[in-house]
Amino acid sequence: MTAPLQVDTRALRDALGCFATGITVVTTSNLQGQPVGVTINSFNAVSLEPPLILFSLARRSHCLPLFEAGQGFAVHTLRDDQKAISNRFAFSKDDPWAGLSFELDARGCPLLSGVLSIFRCNVEQIHDGGDHRIIIGRVIDFSAEVEGEPLIYFRGRYRGLSPGEEARAEVELEVDRDIWMSW
Ligand SMILES: Cc1cc2nc3c(=O)[nH]c(=O)nc-3n(C[C@H](O)[C@H](O)[C@H](O)COP(=O)(O)O)c2cc1C
Repeated sequence: MTAPLQVDTRALRDALGCFATGITVVTTSNLQGQPVGVTINSFNAVSLEPPLILFSLARRSHCLPLFEAGQGFAVHTLRDDQKAISNRFAFSKDDPWAGLSFELDARGCPLLSGVLSIFRCNVEQIHDGGDHRIIIGRVIDFSAEVEGEPLIYFRGRYRGLSPGEEARAEVELEVDRDIWMSW
């Protein structure tokens, strides 16, 4: 029998960071009806019929009890000019909603303006995933823009599809990298 791998978590994060992803903000509301949001890059498609998506959420996330209580949520895929929104919902010590343009859907779930796509979901299932929980959502509604480019996350830094965007994005995230890598 093979002994369990002794994981160097820093090296594992760096290796996982070689897989480029988009960036999303997942929003919901708390039990007082206030908007809540978290930056997530573990978003993925699961199924078309039925329409299912997933993301993994740290067990220590203050949002987890809301999903476990079955609150409806919305996944927003960000544009290449929305790094500040990603940072707000990942690192902000202040109210990340201050000055942001959003509306509430019929369930009271906040919907952000100006994103590439939105998937409104109900919680379908939640599975254990080590120090995270895997949340599977059933898409009840979605919208997508035909124009616009995505914000990309690769090797711990924001990127864009065009080389100029990549250079600017790297400088901007440098200061936040250590905070993010502690996730
Ligand atoms: C680019 C990026 C991607 C992230 N992806 C995830 C993720 O998939 N799952 C997760 O639990 N946290 C992720 N985080 C960290 C959370 O956004 C951050 O820890 C959280 O907002 C702060 O804690 P809270 O969930 O208690 O509000 C990510 C952060 C960044 C900057």
